[in-house]
Amino acid sequence: MTTFPPTDRRLDKLVQLLSENATVVVPGPKIAAEIGVSRSTVWYWIERLRELGVAIKGHPSTGYQLTRLPDLLMPSLLRPELSEGELGHKVVHYFRIDSTNTVALRLAAEGAAHGTVVVAEEQTAGRGRFGRVWFSERSSGIYFSIVLRPPLAPTVAPVLTLVAGVAAQAALERATGLAADIRWPNDLLLGGKKVCGILTEMSAEVDRLHAAVIGIGVNVNHRQIPEDLRSIATSLSLEGGKVYSRAQILTALLRELEQHYGLLLEEGSEAIARRWMDVSSYGSGKQIRVLAGGSEFEATTIGLDPSGALRIRRHDGRDELLVAGEIVAVR
Ligand code: BTN
Repeated sequence: MTTFPPTDRRLDKLVQLLSENATVVVPGPKIAAEIGVSRSTVWYWIERLRELGVAIKGHPSTGYQLTRLPDLLMPSLLRPELSEGELGHKVVHYFRIDSTNTVALRLAAEGAAHGTVVVAEEQTAGRGRFGRVWFSERSSGIYFSIVLRPPLAPTVAPVLTLVAGVAAQAALERATGLAADIRWPNDLLLGGKKVCGILTEMSAEVDRLHAAVIGIGVNVNHRQIPEDLRSIATSLSLEGGKVYSRAQILTALLRELEQHYGLLLEEGSEAIARRWMDVSSYGSGKQIRVLAGGSEFEATTIGLDPSGALRIRRHDGRDELLVAGEIVAVR
């Protein structure tokens, strides 16, 4: 098994130092002294950052200068935007990881606090729903997981998934102006293609939820989608015609998650279901094909139950609650 180390805190400090002094050349010895490493380590890390596409001018004899603020998701670059709130007060960053959900579940089992975030620039084994692979190209998307410890019963897990869906919808609209649709339970779509996916996993006893891990993947600056996914997936950049700041989108996601999680605790799942109905075209009157438990059939949507289940009407007139499975729009 490959083990991936989290990003060294001193490397995070190096990026912070360069970012705070972006217009000036910072001498190598000064950097080394401030972050507490040798000058050769500074040089080594600068080279690694350059490999990741961070634009840094200069060399060991003259010092270093950022020519552009890097779009990395390192804690020091996110923290200024996350001063208030519980979600994201601790961010564990990886340049490369198998899956942020796997790490977050492990950290949760070891006692990680509510709101702990695990974020990676790249995943080698990103997971989607139904055991699918989540394409996690380096530095193009956002791949993160958050540990939540809700004071609620395990039956609330599907509602947490809806919370994440409506929060992500609001965050993407706020950060990019693009209004995504939500396909039940929580796929975010632009032009009918998936741009964001959410995977909720949890550790619980029958009547007690220890921790829920919500993993969110957003296709942000992908310029190309792999051939086999092209008809069903897209990226914000392909839809909006621009390059977006991943850091800005991630901080918007955390703020909206905080707000919608608060709404769930204060007003209950009905309030979340109402928000979901407001922003999703899948809530009522949508002709869908359902794939659930090995069977496949067509139906019309007739509402969203506060439990998170989708209300559907089969073509023979029977009404049902869909609690699990997958749906697609019938054109
Ligand atoms: C889906 O739509 O199938 C869910 C996709 C969830 C992907 C994210 S990326 C961050 C987190 N880590 C994972 O391995 N999966 C989730």
